[in-house]
Amino acid sequence: MWYLQIGPCGKGEKMLKTWYSFLLCCLSLRLEANPGLKVRITQKGLDYGSRIGMELLKQALLKETFPSWSGQESFSVVKVNYVISRLRINAVDFPETSASFIPGTGVSLSVAHASATISADWRMNTWLLSKDQGGITVSISGLFIAVIFKVSRDSTGRLSILLHNCQLSINSLKVKLNRGSSWIYSFLSGYLEKPIHTKLDKNLCLNIKYKVQLMDAQLKKHKVLSQIDAFAQIDYSLVSSPAVFKSHINLDLKGTVYPVGSHTEPPFVPAPFDFPNQGDSMLYLGVSSYFIKSASLAYYRAGVFNIAISKELATTFNLNTALFKDFVPEIALSYVTACPVLLKLMATSPPAVSLNADRCILQITGCVEVFAVLPNSTTQYIFRGNLTASTRGNLTITKQKLIISLLLKRLQFSLLHSILDFSEQISLVESFLSYALRNAVIPVINDKLGKGFPLLNLAHTTLTRPVIRMNQGHLVISTDVHYKHEEAGDEDLHSHS
Ligand SMILES: *[C@@H]1O[C@H](CO)[C@@H](O)[C@H](O)[C@H]1NC(C)=O
Ligand SMILES: *[C@@H]1O[C@H](CO)[C@@H](O)[C@H](O)[C@H]1NC(C)=O
Ligand SMILES: *[C@@H]1O[C@H](CO)[C@@H](O)[C@H](O)[C@H]1NC(C)=O
Repeated sequence: MWYLQIGPCGKGEKMLKTWYSFLLCCLSLRLEANPGLKVRITQKGLDYGSRIGMELLKQALLKETFPSWSGQESFSVVKVNYVISRLRINAVDFPETSASFIPGTGVSLSVAHASATISADWRMNTWLLSKDQGGITVSISGLFIAVIFKVSRDSTGRLSILLHNCQLSINSLKVKLNRGSSWIYSFLSGYLEKPIHTKLDKNLCLNIKYKVQLMDAQLKKHKVLSQIDAFAQIDYSLVSSPAVFKSHINLDLKGTVYPVGSHTEPPFVPAPFDFPNQGDSMLYLGVSSYFIKSASLAYYRAGVFNIAISKELATTFNLNTALFKDFVPEIALSYVTACPVLLKLMATSPPAVSLNADRCILQITGCVEVFAVLPNSTTQYIFRGNLTASTRGNLTITKQKLIISLLLKRLQFSLLHSILDFSEQISLVESFLSYALRNAVIPVINDKLGKGFPLLNLAHTTLTRPVIRMNQGHLVISTDVHYKHEEAGDEDLHSHS
């Protein structure tokens, strides 16, 4: 037995402080962070997913190989040793499958009136007869399986799947040895029904459990950090356990975009947001302004908004001093021949993001320097100033990716310094810069952002008719998905419903 000793005043105070910070720490650990991204799968999505799943399971079962097994059956004085080998499933049918959400737990999947035909080779040994062998056909019908998968979040923020419950019943099982004439064969087929039935009863749920464990191990290997492009990565880890309701499941993902190689948390946190009342899509993806803000910060830190328009680019985009004729004649006049104009844009803070009910605005603030390349290849500085470019983010979805491209809406410029006096014509300089940004700078930024944010990372799956709806502080993408079978070509299971 020992006592907590409260020592002299100072020590006690220190302990109290330690306790206090310990408590605070635990409390803050318990507070779940708001997600930057949300995923909702509806009953319609689950139905489609389970239909695809059963289809894939059917294909997998038809390809599956099973280990051979041996046994011994004795009837009266006759002992029969047998070996069953080359077991394969020739046909399988799941006419009635249903999937539903089990609130608080996960997903239940049941298959009724399933049937299967299995064939195998048999070999046997009795002291009565010499060795013999042949084929065997097992017909199973009225198979019922109901499984419940529990979904949760593991300590690393990955989705975890566990077999929570498995029930199985087989209505009828018939065994036929394919040399039916002799009494021993028909006699034996009757005797083999029991061990095969027992084997299935004992092993099918175990087998499913094993397969679910493999799947879970696969999920554990899943990268929660996904590379977007050379500049940024997204953290897709779960911030809380999946929330399962009667009509849907919600997954809350961290949804932070980091510059590659630096995982400093952004100096802002996600605000809570909810999905609107359910529509009729399979899948809903919620993208918070936090996500877009962290992306803006990551790309800013990676230098994506620092753009230098080189001589080559200036030539490509036709950016030259002759252009100034329409904007700032003083500049145009000082160049006898048209010289390429170089631009250096340096963002001085992360572009500010605002998501409103009808648009996404990114405001880029920075300074710009303008040069001309003289005929003798000397680069001549002309002017520099601060600018704020208001751009509208045009959001599109292409190949499971959310792509943001910027459109310049407005530009404000303040001149800091110039070799010529045109301070009276700032609005004309602004017009020139608007032209240059619209035609050269923004396309370069859009090209860098062009890889897009991966929304869904499922092989052979495409989003069908995704719709983006903007809200205050977040946007919601509602979509159906379509699975394209690898071998069977474009088998549109969706159209069968
Ligand atoms: C290039 O031309 C400019 C203007 O004509 C002149 O001031 C400058 O000295 C020249 N530079 C070189 C390296 O010849
Ligand atoms: C220009 O931008 C810099 C950096 O953001 C800032 O320190 C400076 O005050 C600005 N100057 C003017 C004239 O706006
Ligand atoms: C948005 O981007 C799409 C695809 O690149 C394009 O077709 C569309 O015209 C753009 N919208 C606007 C307003 O520019």
